[in-house]
Amino acid sequence: MQRRQFFRLAAVAGLAPLVRPQVAWSAHPGHRPGAAPARPGALPRAPLIKPPVLRGPELLLRAQEQSAEIAPGVMARVWSPGPGPVGPTIEGRTGDRLRIRLDNALPESTILHWHGLRVPEAADGHPRLAIAPGGRYDYDVPLIDRAGTYWYHSHAHHRTGIQAYRGMAGLLLIRDEYEDRLGLPGGDHELPMLVQDRRLAADGTFEYEPVMHEQMEGYFGDAPFVNGIRLPSQDVETTTYRLRIANATSSRILRLALSNGASFTLIGVDGGLLEAPVTLPTLDLGTGERVDVLVSFAGERVGSTVSLLSAAFPSPARMGGMGMGRGMGGGMGGGMGRMGAGGVPQGGEMTLVEFRVTRSVSPVAWRPVPLPPLPLPEARRATKTRTFSFESAMMRHAINGRTFDMERMDETVRFGDTEVWTFVNDSPFPHPVHVHETQFRVLERTGGRAEVMPWERGLKDTVLVLPGERVSVAATFDSYRGRFLMHCHNMIHEDMGMMLNFAIA
Ligand code: C2O
Ligand code: CU
Ligand code: CU
Repeated sequence: MQRRQFFRLAAVAGLAPLVRPQVAWSAHPGHRPGAAPARPGALPRAPLIKPPVLRGPELLLRAQEQSAEIAPGVMARVWSPGPGPVGPTIEGRTGDRLRIRLDNALPESTILHWHGLRVPEAADGHPRLAIAPGGRYDYDVPLIDRAGTYWYHSHAHHRTGIQAYRGMAGLLLIRDEYEDRLGLPGGDHELPMLVQDRRLAADGTFEYEPVMHEQMEGYFGDAPFVNGIRLPSQDVETTTYRLRIANATSSRILRLALSNGASFTLIGVDGGLLEAPVTLPTLDLGTGERVDVLVSFAGERVGSTVSLLSAAFPSPARMGGMGMGRGMGGGMGGGMGRMGAGGVPQGGEMTLVEFRVTRSVSPVAWRPVPLPPLPLPEARRATKTRTFSFESAMMRHAINGRTFDMERMDETVRFGDTEVWTFVNDSPFPHPVHVHETQFRVLERTGGRAEVMPWERGLKDTVLVLPGERVSVAATFDSYRGRFLMHCHNMIHEDMGMMLNFAIA
């Protein structure tokens, strides 16, 4: 108690060394050459928390700057739409109607977007709807989507990245009768996980000053945060858990894996449950993507630990051609007053959550029950094909040569139509492409990985397009008429204008 109080005061007073994070995982090859990799576990793990759950029909989100505990005794300045370090988890059922009031007590304009939901234009959180400090926005959100793991985050103009990074994000879970039938692990055995990576500065704020190479590749933290908790651990029993994981990082691709080599049972993706589960040893998630997985600790000994990792992989970025590798970028950053030490680079291993097996129980047998066929849009019904080229060069991120203009209508789609959209990435960086207001089918990927990945065979609203890839999707625009967005979800790219407006008319 004494000690905790001391740390609290210390953090507020900004006594740096006490709260300074250490790198607490093995370094990626090539990361900070010469530096000895910090020993995993150099920092104590902090108990994972579940954000408080808010249910409708009326709910209030008050966005404010506040101090929140991100590890025992470690406080950080966050911007959050709730009392914790990230937003509360909003839960509803298909067919419900939520009335969400957002009060903006932040020092700048903001607006929230319900990622993955099909909602009326006025509820979609377009940046032109941002509200000034002291303002409020009332959302009317009919839940028409399927049971799934959705999320919400700031969509403020040029400020999405920093606001989401500081905590303006949360999970949004929808349930329905089909999900009910499955008897999935619930209660303490259901763990929603909003995954971020951040750098905690000595003064207790989250550092976010992208230097030049970070403005091109993206912003990477030096420690994983789940539900706003740094380096979390979770006590588990020897049974099956349901993990609902959202990649809410600024720019990081997560390669989910389990340290004991066990596989995940994938039951859902962005737009909800699959028709049947799929067993996979690893899953790649770009920013904005979600997975719903079952993990079994049934074979584990009490006292053992199993970690949920983002496993190491070679960065898909092709920076050689840009003439600006990390070294050079760091140099430029240094010229701008900081060494650009950076976080764990893209592809560096991170231990997201350490599961501690504390209790032996008789495991439940979960028998998969197939669900009805998914309403996947059909390419043969497409009335139109559009091609979007994602371009990153010369400190600019553009789509088909243009950066975002809030007032310009870039594309117009006829209400009710199905279209095929092809995302082309001839740029040096990965682009997780997100389309508002629809759940699409991934039809084809050519170049690069050259296949539709096993975790992309459901309804999706975000798809990762690596350098050299072309990905085609089929989408039906039959929810609401209005103005919506399509953009890269690397938040650095998005804020720099890799985004466009489309109308459903
Ligand atoms: Cu996750 Cu336009 O948003
Ligand atoms: Cu969205
Ligand atoms: Cu991008």
